[in-house]
Amino acid sequence: MTYNIVALPGDGIGPEIMEAGLAVLKAVAAYEGFDYEVVSCDFGGGAIDTFGMPLPTPTLKAAKEADAILHGSIGDPRFDNEAIRPEQGLLEIRKELGLFSNIRPLKIYDALKAVSPIKNVENVDFVVVRELTGGIYFGKHTLNENDAEDVCSYTKHEVERVAHAAFKLARTRRKKVTSIDKQNVLATSKLWRKVVSEVAKNYPDVELHHQLVDSAAMLFITNPQQFDVIVTENLFGDILTDEAAAIAGTLGVMASSSKGDKVAFYEPIHGSAPDIAGLGIANPIGMISSVAMMLSDTFGLHGAAKKIEDAIEQTLKDGILTKDLGGNATTQAVCNGIISRLDY
Ligand code: NAD
Ligand code: IPM
Ligand code: MN
Repeated sequence: MTYNIVALPGDGIGPEIMEAGLAVLKAVAAYEGFDYEVVSCDFGGGAIDTFGMPLPTPTLKAAKEADAILHGSIGDPRFDNEAIRPEQGLLEIRKELGLFSNIRPLKIYDALKAVSPIKNVENVDFVVVRELTGGIYFGKHTLNENDAEDVCSYTKHEVERVAHAAFKLARTRRKKVTSIDKQNVLATSKLWRKVVSEVAKNYPDVELHHQLVDSAAMLFITNPQQFDVIVTENLFGDILTDEAAAIAGTLGVMASSSKGDKVAFYEPIHGSAPDIAGLGIANPIGMISSVAMMLSDTFGLHGAAKKIEDAIEQTLKDGILTKDLGGNATTQAVCNGIISRLDY
C-alpha cells in the first residue's frame, strides 16, 4: 500500500519546515520500508497570488482524497489589510474536512526542562483538545465604520462530539478531563458546561473538572501538573495552547493533529513567523513531531513515531538548537541532526 499524503507548505517559514518534515519522513520510510507519495499543493498567501483564493479547488479536492494532510503554516503581512486573507483558507479547510477535534499535546522534552520559564516542569504532561470548527471563528463577522460584531455560537452536537473525543483520549491517559469555559458570562459556555457534564456520564471512570478560562490561564503557570486532558472551545484553545507552548520552552516544538470523521490533518501550532521567514533558522521540531503524529495516528506506525521523538530528544540533548532555544543551528542542521540520530 502507498500512503497518499498531501503537503501544504504554505507561507513564511512553512516551506522551510515542510522541507525538514518531509526529509525526516523520507528517511523513516526508507528504514521502515513503507511506500508513500507526497503531492504538494498551493495554500495560503501563495495561493491567493496564483488563484485569487487561499484554498483553491484543486487543493481542497486533493486534500479530501488524501490519506493524511501535512500543513506547514500560513499567514503573510502582505494581506493584513485585504479582504481575502491566507487565514481564511485554514478555517475553510478545517470546516470542509470536518476537523472538529484539534489535539495539541504539551510534551516537555527532557533537554528543554531548563529552558522552560516555569521553574518546575517535572510531571507536566497534558493534551489540549481544542474544538476547531465552531465558536466565534465561524460566526458572522460584521465590521462597520463605528461598530463591529463577531457572533459566537455552539450547538449541543458540536460540544458533544468534541467532549467524546476528550473523554476517549483521557481513557488512554490519566483519566482526568478539565473542561475550560467562561460560563459565568457566556451563553455558549453555559451550554458547553452542561453538555460536557452530560457526556461525562458515559465515562464514569474518568474524572471531570470544570475551570473558568481566566483562572485556567493562571493555573497553566502555577500548577500545570494538575492537567491531563483539557477540552475547550475554539478561541480559548487557540490562546491557551500558545501559553502551553511557552511552558514547553518554545512555540517551535508544538505539534498537533486535527481530526473529524474523515482525513486527519497534521500541523505545528505556530504560525508563519514572518519575522524569521527565509532565514533558514526556523525550528522544524513542531513540524517533524507532527509527521510523527501522522505516522502513529493515521498509519499505525507507532514504532516509527517513537524513533522520531527519540531522535528529536537526542538532538536537543546534544545541543543542536535553533535560535528560539538560544542556539545558532539552522533548520537544516536540526533536521539532519534528527535524521542522523534515528535509531535503526
Ligand atoms: P507566529 O507563531 O508566526 O510567531 C510568533 C513568534 O514565534 C515569532 O517571533 C516567531 O518568529 C516565533 N516562532 C513561531 N514559530 C517558530 C518556529 N518554528 N521556530 C522559531 N520561531 C518561531 O505568530 P504571529 O507572529 O502571531 O503570526 C504570524 C502569522 O502567522 C499571522 O499571519 C498569523 O495569522 C499566522 N498564523 C498561522 C498559523 C497556522 O498556519 N496554523 C498559526 C498561528 C498564526
Ligand atoms: C492556529 C492559528 C489559526 C487559529 C489562525 C491562523 C486562523 O492561530 O492554528 O492556532 O486561530 O486557529
Ligand atoms: Mn494559534
